[in-house]
Amino acid sequence: RDPELDAVIQAHEWSAKLYHFLLKNTEHGKPAMEYLKARGFTDKAIDHFQIGYAPARWDTLVQFLEKRSFDLGSMEKGGLLAAKQDASGYVDRFRDRVMFPIHNRSGKVIAFGGRILGEGQPKYLNTPESKLFSKSRTLYNLHQAKTAIRKTSQVVLFEGYGDVISASEGGVHNAVATMGTALTESHAAMLKSMADQVVISFDGDNAGQAAALKSIPILETVGLQVKISVLPEGLDPDDFIQKHGGERFARQMVEGAVTSTKFKLMKLKKNHITPGSGEGAKVAYIQEALRIITPLPSPTEREIYLKELSSDMNISFDSLKQECNQIRTELQKKQSAGDNNPERWNNGRHKK
Ligand code: UTP
Ligand code: MN
Ligand code: MN
Ligand code: MN
Ligand code: MN
Repeated sequence: RDPELDAVIQAHEWSAKLYHFLLKNTEHGKPAMEYLKARGFTDKAIDHFQIGYAPARWDTLVQFLEKRSFDLGSMEKGGLLAAKQDASGYVDRFRDRVMFPIHNRSGKVIAFGGRILGEGQPKYLNTPESKLFSKSRTLYNLHQAKTAIRKTSQVVLFEGYGDVISASEGGVHNAVATMGTALTESHAAMLKSMADQVVISFDGDNAGQAAALKSIPILETVGLQVKISVLPEGLDPDDFIQKHGGERFARQMVEGAVTSTKFKLMKLKKNHITPGSGEGAKVAYIQEALRIITPLPSPTEREIYLKELSSDMNISFDSLKQECNQIRTELQKKQSAGDNNPERWNNGRHKK
């Protein structure tokens, strides 16, 4: 054990308690509380996620930690404080922000995300990366979600704090978030140890949808089954739940999540077929779609997507099947020519 690391964890635990107390019980915390209430966060959610408030002062935490005999240099290394420019001492890193504690798997606070009240940059100020905290190895809310994840063998993966909190309050307890960072192999391995299926529920904007697409092969490579929530344009899961409720989210966005293949086909179609796009676009879409469908290992799966494509594009099933066979021959040739990277001919999936 590293005593300095232990002290930093201790200090995070204390700080989370302090920020939570200040939010709930002080005059300073009132605007933050009003902000949270206006967003639809309930008292229960505020307690359950230990949400807090860091006051608009330079020394709230400095004083608090000093009184408890913490070494301020270590606290700076751990990300709670910042050194003054002239090196004459320390100031609080988080000021006038709503504080979301981030826990490790065993439930200890190891970092914070601090949101500005309203507009401004950065929207979230985070604990810097350290020996203790690395975003690429941490998933928000995993400590609380792991029981539900194991029980359902499913995990719902979000981008942000608010998404997890609203989903969880709305009954989706197997909720974790990447905190806006790209999903890593390390995240995937953690999830695989607890679940068989991941539902990616990222924001309904270009960034969110692009991130979802990138996450699919990372999750499938470790053997997880992947489904995707297709959020309405411009809404994130938190917005959706505030607007339509948690029950509808669970039904439409979790139970109604589409397969990764379906998601890729939907994206492809959106990119090719626009109002007024002609026959050329249609042909291009169908050919690219067939390159997604043909390498699928299951004949049933292939048939399902081919039938859908056939009726959607009003092309006979037989023509599609014929074209499929041509593509297969082509792919097999490539494969026997030494291209045995499964990513290219098996759609990123592991061969059983
Ligand atoms: P979003 O931009 O989607 O924010 O980033 P959000 O969660 O919907 O935030 P609200 O609803 O406006 O409060 C998703 C996640 O990316 C991380 C945070 O973890 C955020 O929840 N992020 C975002 C940062 O770390 N810093 C930022 O400046 C923005
Ligand atoms: Mn909300
Ligand atoms: Mn986003
Ligand atoms: Mn968002
Ligand atoms: Mn949001």
